Amino acid sequence: MSLPLDASGTPDTQITSGSPYALQPLLHESSEGEQWWRRAVIYQIYPRSFKDSTGSGMGDLAGITAELPKIATLGVDAIWLSPFFPSPQKDAGYDVSDYRGVDPLFGTMEDAKTLISTAASFGIRIIIDIVPNHCSNEHELFKAALAAAPGSGERAMFHFADGLGEGGNTPPNNWFSLFGGSGWTRVPNPDGTPGQYYFHLFDATQPDFNWRNPEVQEEFETTLRFWLDAGAGGFRIDVAHAMFKKEGLPNWGGAPDGTPRPGFPFADAPMFAQPELHQVFARWREICDEYPGEPVLCSEANVRPLTRLADWVAPGQMHQSFNFDYLRTLWDRDALATVIGESLQAFDAVDAPTTWVLSNHDVSRHATRFGLDNVALDLGDGIGPRDPQPDTALGLARARAATVFMLGLPGGAYLYQGEELGLGDHTTLADHFRQDPTFLRSNGERIGRDGCRVPIPWVHDAPAYGFSPTGNTWLPQPTDWAKLARDVQQDDPASTLNLYRTALALRSELGLGLGSLAFFKNPDLPEVLAIRNSNTISVLNLSAVSVPLPAGEPLLYSDPDGATLAAQGLLGANSAIWLRAIDH
Ligand code: NOJ
Repeated sequence: MSLPLDASGTPDTQITSGSPYALQPLLHESSEGEQWWRRAVIYQIYPRSFKDSTGSGMGDLAGITAELPKIATLGVDAIWLSPFFPSPQKDAGYDVSDYRGVDPLFGTMEDAKTLISTAASFGIRIIIDIVPNHCSNEHELFKAALAAAPGSGERAMFHFADGLGEGGNTPPNNWFSLFGGSGWTRVPNPDGTPGQYYFHLFDATQPDFNWRNPEVQEEFETTLRFWLDAGAGGFRIDVAHAMFKKEGLPNWGGAPDGTPRPGFPFADAPMFAQPELHQVFARWREICDEYPGEPVLCSEANVRPLTRLADWVAPGQMHQSFNFDYLRTLWDRDALATVIGESLQAFDAVDAPTTWVLSNHDVSRHATRFGLDNVALDLGDGIGPRDPQPDTALGLARARAATVFMLGLPGGAYLYQGEELGLGDHTTLADHFRQDPTFLRSNGERIGRDGCRVPIPWVHDAPAYGFSPTGNTWLPQPTDWAKLARDVQQDDPASTLNLYRTALALRSELGLGLGSLAFFKNPDLPEVLAIRNSNTISVLNLSAVSVPLPAGEPLLYSDPDGATLAAQGLLGANSAIWLRAIDH
C-alpha cells in the first residue's frame, strides 16, 4: 500500500548526524503474501537471437533448453519467450499464422514441451507471448476472410470496410499503422476489381482481429488453454491496449497529421484503451486461475498516464503490466524519482505490483541509450550508422548502475537477454541487413529495432561468438563483442554477468521484491537518488563526480572500483550501491 508522495508532518529521520541524506516518510509498504509474480524477475528470451543449435543462423528452442542451466545460475523466476509460433516472419514472429504450433524455424512442439518441462525442473516458469490484436495474413482465418464475400462471417473476424468517395478509393478512416503509412490495405474482389479494405495497426501482413466478435474471443480462450495444458507459466499479452476498436471505427481527431509518435495521447484514440477490453481480461484471469502454479498475465499496454494503466492490473484483471514510463525515463534524477513514486502510487492503489524494465526487443538497449546524451528514444526507435554514436564505456557504467538501482526497487523486474553481458545495440548495422518492418515501411526514415535484436555472444573466439555452430547469424554481430562474450565474463568477479548474478541473489535474500520504499531527501546532492527498501539503502549517483554516501554497510557496487571509494565514504560517478542500513 502507498502513502501520499508529499506526506508531511512526520519529522525527517537523519540516519547519521551530518549526513546530507534525510529519510522521508514511507511511500510504499511491504507487500504481504508470497504470490511469486509480485516480486518476480522475468528474463526475456528473443528466440531468434539466443542460441542456434542447428547452424541455420536462427536461434531455436533446443538451443534455449541446452542453455537453461546457465539461465538458472542467473537466478530468475521465469522466462518470457517472444513468439516462436508458425509465422511468415514479416514482423519477427509477431505475425502469427498458427497460435497453437511451433515454427519449424525454431523446432517442434516436442521441443517446446521439453523446454517447458526442463525449465520447470530448474524452478523456472515459461511465459508465452500471445499476440491477440492481429495475426498474419497467412493465418487460415484471414485467408478464409479474403476468399469470402464482403459482409460474410469470415470477414467479420477482422475489420473489413468499404472505402469512401468515388470508387471507394479513400480508406474507410484516417487511422495509421504504427509502423508507418496508412493502417488500411485494399484487397481485390474475386473478379479482380478493387474491393474492401482491412485494418492493420502494424504491417499490412498483420490484419487486426475484430474483438467484438465472440468467435474471436473463443478462438483465443482455446489458445490460452492449449498452452496452459502444455505447462505454460502464463502469458505476455502483445499490444493489450489495442484489441478493441471503438464501435463504428470513427476518424481519430487526435492525430491530424497521422503521426502517432512520440508520446501521442493514447487515452483518447478510438483504437486504444476501449473499456470492453476489460471483460476479456477478466475472462482470461478466470481461465488462468483454474490452473495450478498461479499462471500470470502480463500486459504490454502502452497506456498513459500510469493511473490509467493501473486499470489493466486492477483486481480480477492481469497480474502485471510493463512499466514503459520507467523504461523511457532519461538519465535524470528528478524524472526517475517522479516515475518511481507515481508508479508505486498508481499500482498500489489497485493492489498490483509495480514492474520495472530497462530493455526489450523493441527499444535501444539501456547500455546504448545511457551512452548517448539523454536522447529521448521511444519504442520502435533505434540508433543507426548515421546517428551520433554512443559512448560505450559511459553507457556500460550507467547501465550497470541503472540495473543495480532497478533491482533494488520493490516489485517485479524484467530483464532482456544479453543485458546481463552488458550488451549495447549494434549501432552501425548496414541498411541492407535490416529486417524490421518499421525501417521498411518508413523508407528508412526510422531505423527500427534490428540493432537491439542481434544474436548474443557466448564464446569469445568461436564463429558468431558461439551463437551458432556454423557461424551463421540472421543479423551480423558487432566486431567488438569478444570481450563481452559469456565465457570471458563467467569467472571474472568484476564482470557484468557476475554483477547480475550477485544482485539477483541478494535481491532475493534481502526480500527486496516484496519490500517497502521511502525516498531520502538530499537537496545538496541534486543528481543523487537514494531510497530505502526495508533495511537496504540503494543509492544511484547520476552525476559525473563522486558523492558522499549515507551510512551503512556496503553490500553491492555497480562499479568494479566501488569498494575502494566506499571505504572513503564515497560513491563514484555514474554508479550505484546497496548498503545495509545501520539502524535495523
Ligand atoms: C509489440 C511487440 O513487442 C513488437 O515487437 C511487435 O512488432 C508489435 N507488438 C506488433 O505485434
